[in-house]
Amino acid sequence: MSTNKLRVLVVTCSGRPGALGPAVSRWLTGAVAARAGELGVDLVPVSLGELDLPFLDEEEHPSSGVYRHEHTRRWSAVVDAADGFIAVTPEYNYGMPATLKNALDYLSAEWAWKPIGFVSYGNTSAGTRSVQHAKQVVTTLRLVPLGATVAIRIGDAVEDGELRPDAARDAAAGGLLSELARVANALRPMRERARPESLPGPVPGSYARALTPEDAAEVAVLQRCCWVEEALVNGTLDIPALHESVEDVRTWLAEWRTTGLWLDGRLLGMVRGRRAADDWDIGRLAVAPDQRGKGLGRWLLRTAEAAADPDCERHILFTGAKSRKNIDFYAGQGYRPAPIPIPEGAVGLAKPRTPLPV
Ligand SMILES: Cc1cc2nc3c(=O)[nH]c(=O)nc-3n(C[C@H](O)[C@H](O)[C@H](O)COP(=O)(O)O)c2cc1C
Repeated sequence: MSTNKLRVLVVTCSGRPGALGPAVSRWLTGAVAARAGELGVDLVPVSLGELDLPFLDEEEHPSSGVYRHEHTRRWSAVVDAADGFIAVTPEYNYGMPATLKNALDYLSAEWAWKPIGFVSYGNTSAGTRSVQHAKQVVTTLRLVPLGATVAIRIGDAVEDGELRPDAARDAAAGGLLSELARVANALRPMRERARPESLPGPVPGSYARALTPEDAAEVAVLQRCCWVEEALVNGTLDIPALHESVEDVRTWLAEWRTTGLWLDGRLLGMVRGRRAADDWDIGRLAVAPDQRGKGLGRWLLRTAEAAADPDCERHILFTGAKSRKNIDFYAGQGYRPAPIPIPEGAVGLAKPRTPLPV
């Protein structure tokens, strides 16, 4: 399983009185509950019937993200917070129900780079034509339809309005959820990169975003590989970045403003900053060893400096007293030795917040 939780909406698409859809969703949720726990998936039920969206009544195109109506904003928030979807859909006249098409049409970016699996039901075709219809529509929204599917023939499967037990169907539903989780995790970098709060990074395809305690495991790995060189040149293992536990990292990530630079799901570099009296305290500037020499460190340092509170007077940082490469790098960025509080064996450096005169 992934180390990050996934939020998957189970969308019951039919909303007419006496619809079979809720019974299908009930069966599905029960059948995959254990697998969801193993995969770290939170299943969130959504009924399009209860959502009761009117036929699309927004003036602007959904790609504008300008929503005039409260019902649109509510639906937008629900979809935006999801990592993937399972549509529990009937077949109406060889196609998807209008409720599903309407719910899809309301939004745009909120759907992008998220997997969608289908559990269909119907008469002769078991709802498969509805799924084929939906697949060609969802790809326009950058939803990624799964190959795994569950198709239920009502005549074979339903008794007194409920689904008969069927181990093969349960297994197919578990397979669908597993595939959904794998695809949702694989697409995570694309979702993150597309988020409005992500910044384009300095190398093509890379992006930067604020790191949170959820990123602690990645940060711990990056630290361990980045500070080995420091340990060697300074002749000491007494460097916090080398022995902090994931729990320690989680704690400081909650306290510092930390930026991570990502490419294709890999953390390439990071830097953190926070206020210390009248100074902006910068630290943990790290670039993965194989990514050095591309200007990533300079870019991260500038990003950390730009995050300083506007009334801070100086940027301050420290590095190992024998870390010649680091000291030269910081000197090139305008940092000069300064008497700031530092650990033993380190050298303190500072730079005024306004650019140095040239
Ligand atoms: C308007 C409408 C159209 C339907 N068209 C199809 C169809 O094209 N193919 C099919 O297999 N079943 C079709 N059915 C039968 C549905 O599969 C069946 O009624 C199912 O229970 C509908 O799902 P629901 O009860 O959740 O609304 C249709 C049912 C309705 C109400």
